[in-house]
Amino acid sequence: MKAATITGKPLLAALAGEAVRPAPVWLMRQAGRYLPEYRALRAREPDFLRFCLTPKLATEVTLQPIRRFGLDGAILFSDILVPPFALGHGVRFVEGEGPVLERVTGRAQVEALDLPRARGVWAPVMETVRRLRGALPPGVTLIGFAGAPFTVAAYMVEGGGSRDFAEARRMAFAEPGLFGALVARLEEATIDYLSAQAEAGAEALMLFDSWAGVLSPAQFRRWVIGPTARIAAALRARFPAVPLIGFPRGAGPMLGDYAEGTGLQAVGLDTVLPAAWAARILPAGVTGQGNLDPMALVAGGDALAEEVTTLMRAVAGRPWVVNLGHGIVPQTPPEHVAELVALVRAAS
Ligand code: CP3
Repeated sequence: MKAATITGKPLLAALAGEAVRPAPVWLMRQAGRYLPEYRALRAREPDFLRFCLTPKLATEVTLQPIRRFGLDGAILFSDILVPPFALGHGVRFVEGEGPVLERVTGRAQVEALDLPRARGVWAPVMETVRRLRGALPPGVTLIGFAGAPFTVAAYMVEGGGSRDFAEARRMAFAEPGLFGALVARLEEATIDYLSAQAEAGAEALMLFDSWAGVLSPAQFRRWVIGPTARIAAALRARFPAVPLIGFPRGAGPMLGDYAEGTGLQAVGLDTVLPAAWAARILPAGVTGQGNLDPMALVAGGDALAEEVTTLMRAVAGRPWVVNLGHGIVPQTPPEHVAELVALVRAAS
């Protein structure tokens, strides 16, 4: 990695494999309902997808936590369900219920996914990325993202969130041709969508595979590692300077296979994985990210301080990005985020 491109950007340096200390810090869902200024803007646009697709609003909410806390990374404000919506699939967000999707039951819904149409619908996301590159402080790294094909497919088959994604898992076993066609379409769309973000100015990219942990090891290889490896190879060929972070939530002992099999620059850990174990088993060039418990952040105080100390000891000498093991929850007191940033900067 060229030193010139990462100078003054601690997060990019860590993603390039440097054991930067103080470790860079950003938080999944750092823009969101725990911030009163987010709730105020969100009240102006009750349609969540339209909120994501309005550059003025999406840019502003991306910047809110940066202004307040001086984090090292800014994650583009959008959602992993924007691409299926853009592809023409039925997606809506219902207040207090979460996402509701049209269900994929056969080939017709897969063949209807329309990439040329999607490029027009997600164009405002690229405008948001361009605006952010112009607005962010110089030391802050802009992270673009997408849902990984398996997780997005799981929502599309299930028709929304689910505790165990039983129907998606059934289809993956019983109708692998159909499920594979859906995942392949999403793989192609994800490469296109992330490439457009990199072209617009995203400096790092993240793939959220939030439901990877519901799969058996063989299915995990097929539907998580396979598509992620192909996406990583395609992006690396086109944008060698843009690191890719994967977040295979629930991967458990498959984490090492995931890191080795995908060729990603960085891997996010969920809350239950021991960071010291990950620091040992991750390939030497792969940066770790995570994995504080969002509830430690809700608690704050000594409990949070202890978790930060334990984490920094566990990953000493290793390239690491401090983050949570899952997104910030709405009941988080914003001042605890400021506390966390101070704790990380004080640790060595
Ligand atoms: O700050 C950021 O992290 C950037 C924006 C972002 C959002 N969602 C905003 C959002 C990102 C990166 C996501 C990713 C996302 N979205 C994931 C992967 C990470 C994870 O949490 O596992 C998933 C599975 C989704 C799908 C999704 N979006 C669900 C299930 C929900 C409803 C649950 C909830 O928390 O309300 C959303 C809505 C959503 N996405 C909100 C935000 C800030 C809340 C919507 C609101 O303002 O009402």
